[in-house]
Amino acid sequence: MISEKMAAAFNKQIKDEMYSSNLYLSMVAYFEEIGLKGFANWMRVQVQEETAHAMGLFDYLLSRDGRVIVDAIDKPAYEWSSALDCFEAVYKHEQLVTSLINNLIDVAEQEKDRAAVSFLQWYLKEQVEEEANCSEICAKLRLIGDDKHALLLIDSELATRTFVAPTIA
Ligand code: FEO
Repeated sequence: MISEKMAAAFNKQIKDEMYSSNLYLSMVAYFEEIGLKGFANWMRVQVQEETAHAMGLFDYLLSRDGRVIVDAIDKPAYEWSSALDCFEAVYKHEQLVTSLINNLIDVAEQEKDRAAVSFLQWYLKEQVEEEANCSEICAKLRLIGDDKHALLLIDSELATRTFVAPTIA
């Protein structure tokens, strides 16, 4: 059985992961609109990843006999000025998510819930990867500047990303 405080913190994180999913769905629409289908594909995979993150927390909370309460999700942004502007927003958002996971682990430590602390290590590692991925794409976009040919090459590269369901444990 999980404590009420811990269950509330998990429910908040489920909501925040679903917000991430919706934010990236909004970015899919943006990239489709400006004709960058590879970038849109990368974001489609990101939507699936964020939903998987939310479901990992959802199933863990259920497994600990915690009550899952699905909350309303805030409306995400929907306009960006360029691919770089959009990816900088992704990077900033992932940094925020890292701080949220750290806060969640703080709650688990306060509650002396070592099982939850252990479970959340996967999310910490995932955040390192998420931040590194966006930082790399931001760096490439800064490097190419206004070179549209190079932008299309990156678009082709991002078109190859596929979703692999994570094993969260
Ligand atoms: Fe679920 Fe992108 O962090």
